[in-house]
Amino acid sequence: MLGIIGGTGLTQLSNLEITRRQIVRTPFGDPSGALTFGKLNGREVAFLARHGYGHTIPPHEVNYRANIWALHSEGAAQVVSVASVGGIRADLTPGALAIPHQVLDYTWGRKHTFFEGPDQPVTHIDFTHPYCEVLRGRLLKAAAAAGQAVVNKGVYAATQGPRLESAAEIDRLERDGADMVGMTGMPEASLAKEIGMRYAAVAVVVNHAAGRGDSSEEIHLDQINAVLQASMVKVRTLLEKLVAADD
Ligand code: HPA
Repeated sequence: MLGIIGGTGLTQLSNLEITRRQIVRTPFGDPSGALTFGKLNGREVAFLARHGYGHTIPPHEVNYRANIWALHSEGAAQVVSVASVGGIRADLTPGALAIPHQVLDYTWGRKHTFFEGPDQPVTHIDFTHPYCEVLRGRLLKAAAAAGQAVVNKGVYAATQGPRLESAAEIDRLERDGADMVGMTGMPEASLAKEIGMRYAAVAVVVNHAAGRGDSSEEIHLDQINAVLQASMVKVRTLLEKLVAADD
């Protein structure tokens, strides 16, 4: 079964025929909300709104461990994460969708591993490729089938938030190799890896990152909402195509 974690602008999937909602308790506390199960294009999926259904949980307070654990324990073998980002690379302009292939992690103070506590042996996971290439490929195929342009590959920088970045911070991220910046990509990706779930992300560019393009003086938050609304229509179609191609 496919799990979908919806970010800002995607607190529900309007094309999902809901069959049930389930509150899941985990050893790591409560997820952002009940899991919503339903049929998307005839296929069963589990949906979770990362920031809660009322969009009340900020990026640094999301219980990423509980979210990943809950989806895994309810049978999701793979997860597609939908996350809004600021575009750093010139072609990542508002409205673009990207399927990132690499991650830089600047977050701090988040509960970021399942492997902790006195009973756990020291465990290291391989994180060379943070995103599942198979799932990324399927997302790219789904986009092609939907006739939607998506940017293949990009380095996602995860910042702590909830504030946006300074222009100098974005300059630094760019020097580090980042193409886009968001606040929720980590530790979600590494937790999925730890637990053994295929994980890929659809990054929705909702603004130029600070100091870039029309954000050269400030980021206009009201514009972000308009871009989000339009982009989520595309994301829903993409997800429908993705599950339709599922075997
Ligand atoms: N920075 C960090 N996170 C974001 C941004 C941004 O510019 N836009 C959307 N999420």
